[in-house]
Amino acid sequence: MKVGWAIELAGTGKYTPERVVTNEEYAQRLDTSDEWIMQRTGIRERRFAAPEESTLSMATAAARAALTNAGVTPADLDLIVCATVTPEHPLPATGNELQHALGCRTIPSFDVAAACSGFVYSLIMAGQFVHTGVAETVLIVGAECLTRVIDMEERSSCILFGDGSGAAVIRRSREPSRELVAFRMGSDGGGAKQIWIPAGGAREPASVRTVNERLHYMRLRGREVFKFAVTKMRDVVRETLDDAGISVDELALLVPHQSNLRIIESACQRLRIPLDKVVINIDRYGNTSSASIPIALHEATANGRIRPGDLVMLVAFGAGLTWAGALLRY
Ligand code: UT7
Repeated sequence: MKVGWAIELAGTGKYTPERVVTNEEYAQRLDTSDEWIMQRTGIRERRFAAPEESTLSMATAAARAALTNAGVTPADLDLIVCATVTPEHPLPATGNELQHALGCRTIPSFDVAAACSGFVYSLIMAGQFVHTGVAETVLIVGAECLTRVIDMEERSSCILFGDGSGAAVIRRSREPSRELVAFRMGSDGGGAKQIWIPAGGAREPASVRTVNERLHYMRLRGREVFKFAVTKMRDVVRETLDDAGISVDELALLVPHQSNLRIIESACQRLRIPLDKVVINIDRYGNTSSASIPIALHEATANGRIRPGDLVMLVAFGAGLTWAGALLRY
C-alpha cells in the first residue's frame, strides 16, 4: 500500500550482549561443525545474554541508545511499542516495564508479538500514530532473549538463534523528503506450528509433564520455513516496490530479517538485487528475531551506508506465519 506518511527515524540504537558464542562451542557438545553451520546458514557466531540480563535489560539499553542518538529524552515520548516473542514475563507487557525502566511519563505502551516481523509491524503502527497526529514521538523496540527458549539439545535449531535488541525513535519528518513511502504486511495462522512453543500458554499450561517433554522450547520446521521465507521475502519486496511505483534499481539498500544467509541470497538473486546493496550481519549475530532488523539498520546508519534521499526497504518474515515490508525514503 502506498501511503507517503511524513515520518522519519530520528535515531536508532542497539544492544548486543558481550558473550560471543562460536560455532566451535556447539561442535564441542553436539554432532555439528563450524563448516556445516557456515555453509547452511552463514552464521559464524551469535551473542548470548548473561544470566543477569534479559529482554527488558536489553530493550532498555537499546532504547536509551536510540533516544540519545535522536536527541530526545524519555519525557518526550508519547508511546512505546515493544516487539518481542520472549517477553520479560508472560504478564504484563514488556513495553509496560520498559516505560517504567526508562522513567517515561505514564504514556501508553504495549507489546507486538509478530516474531521476526515484529519490528516492521511496530514501525507501521508507530507511523500511523504519528501520521494521524495522535503521537508526536514514538519509541519502537525489537528485543529478544531467544536463548531462554531454544532447545540447546536440538542441533538444527539451537545454532540459529542469538540475543539482542534494537530501537528507533519515530517522529514527524523534519525534512520534507523523508517518508514512509509504502508498506505491506500479512499473516497466515495456518502455519502457526511451523515455528512455535507448544506449552506455557492457555492451551497447554506449565506442568511437570510439559517440562519433562521439553514443550516450553521453540520448535521449528526448518525446511518448510526456509521455502516460505525465500518466496515471501521476494514477494513482499516486489509488491511493496510495485505499490510505490519504484524499480528495484532505484533501491539504495535492503535491510532484510537475518534468518539464514541462503534465504537472503536466494531471494535477492530472484529479485536481481546485488548483495552489496543488502545489509548482512547474520555472521555475527545469528537470528535475533524482532531485533535483527533494528540492529542491522542501526549498523548501516552508523557505518554511513544510508545517505539523505536514499530509498531503504525493510523486509521481514517469520513465526505466525507473519511478514512485512516497509519502504522508507531518508
Ligand atoms: O526467522 C524465521 C525463522 N528461521 C528459520 O526458521 C530458518 C529457516 N530454515 C533454515 O534456515 C534451514 O532450514 C536450517 C538451517 C534450519 C536447516 O538447513 P537445511 O539446509 O534446510 O537442512 P535440513 O533441515 O534439510 O537438514 C539436512 C541435514 C539433515 O541430515 P540428513 O537427514 O540429511 O541426514 C539434518 O539432520 O543436515 C542435518 N543437520 C545438521 N547437521 C549438522 C541439521 N542440523 C544440523 C547441524 N549440524 N546443526
